[in-house]
Amino acid sequence: MQSDIKREREAGSGSLRPCVLLTGATGFLGRELLWKLARELPPEKDIVCIIRHDREAGPGIQAQTPPQATPQERAERRLRVLLAEAPPDLAESGPRQKRILALYGDISKPRLGLSEESFLTLAARVTDIYHGAATVRFDLPLAEARRTNVAGTREVLALATAAARQPASLLRRLHYIGTAFVAGTRRGLIREDELGRGAESCAGPAFHNTYEQTKYEAEAVVREHMAAGLPVSIYRPSIVVGDSQSGYTSSFKVMYWPLKVFASGLLPIVPASRASIVDLVPVDFVINAIWALGSRDDTVGRCYHLAAGPEHATSIGEAIDIAAQFFRVYKPLFVPAAAYERYVRPVLRILLRGKARRALDTGRVYVPYLNYQASFDTSNARRDLRESGLTVPDVRTYFATLLKYCVDSNWGKRRIS
Ligand SMILES: NC(=O)c1ccc[n+]([C@@H]2O[C@H](COP(=O)([O-])OP(=O)(O)OC[C@H]3O[C@@H](n4cnc5c(N)ncnc54)[C@H](OP(=O)(O)O)[C@@H]3O)[C@@H](O)[C@H]2O)c1
Repeated sequence: MQSDIKREREAGSGSLRPCVLLTGATGFLGRELLWKLARELPPEKDIVCIIRHDREAGPGIQAQTPPQATPQERAERRLRVLLAEAPPDLAESGPRQKRILALYGDISKPRLGLSEESFLTLAARVTDIYHGAATVRFDLPLAEARRTNVAGTREVLALATAAARQPASLLRRLHYIGTAFVAGTRRGLIREDELGRGAESCAGPAFHNTYEQTKYEAEAVVREHMAAGLPVSIYRPSIVVGDSQSGYTSSFKVMYWPLKVFASGLLPIVPASRASIVDLVPVDFVINAIWALGSRDDTVGRCYHLAAGPEHATSIGEAIDIAAQFFRVYKPLFVPAAAYERYVRPVLRILLRGKARRALDTGRVYVPYLNYQASFDTSNARRDLRESGLTVPDVRTYFATLLKYCVDSNWGKRRIS
């Protein structure tokens, strides 16, 4: 326990070296952001990652720590596992890795699960907070999703506020990673400077799921703090996919799940209209854009869609045509979602067994995204990224690269060096 407190001090307090705080480092976007920060930040800045321990992170994330290990040791072990997978230019034990520190914490707990001493010292050290931790599950009960996404964001805001109130505050900014899907069930063009609820403009629920709702609520709280003067930038990615150059992804969630089912030929009928909008954005663009926008002083207080936008989004029909050709499977039949739900699904549930039936049930949460009718305006992002030269690539130029990576890596089961 004694050594635990000492380690926590090193990350959460210690020498009062300035640091950048990252939440969600063990996740899909977070790890790529960690590599970016490790490359770009000056060597005198530590990167402190708030990491839960393996048991809290859920099944499949056991980090093989001895049973008597403390939470801090478990968090450190998870960071070591993560760092072992760092790109070659950030080789393990290299100087760029040494300033990356794990701090055991859980954003859904008061003070992020930190001791008061750690919390306050972190507030004194931190220059930038990148908050990406969230639950991205679509099917969680509302209270559970709120605990992480809303209450967790409130705790991060409390830290940022405490940092801003320090006598000689080092805080530059809170970088909040939201989602373009806070738009919920709205249709048409969604602007970056608005946060509106779907039900205001049309009948029916405002959100497709508890993920959208809780990210909406979280962004509303972030905006309140921003309006009160806290320096914040909001980044709203759309559907983030793998690297546009290599296809690499560490996560096969979101778009990849329906794609895998489709590639297996288990999806002869798709509950969608061919013209539905699919807005994909590659992870390398998202990370580079967050860094580029976050490095400019004039972007404080702004919100950005990191998305393909109407110019580069594709349609379900087009995406499926490319995938069908790539995986050499038959093009499926498109059935309107309402008719599918009423007539097709009940029959399929009777006919299908085992894996196919499970896929039918799991797939239900993706149906709204096969029928999406909103597009994300990217005017602010394009304007403020112009100087950096960063532009979002058109999905047609890299979609096949993503699909190839899925096959080569056997959907993440095979490691590709
Ligand atoms: N992926 C996308 O397509 C996409 C699109 C738009 C926006 N976003 C946003 O981007 C952010 C990252 O998403 P992602 O796809 O990278 O998700 P992810 O892979 O599921 O990663 C989520 C991260 O949050 C951490 N986390 C969750 N609950 C926590 C808690 N209570 N305390 C501390 N850490 C916690 C997870 O830690 P464990 O490893 O311990 O679970 C993990 O590091 C989210 O804010 C999401 O809304 C993602």
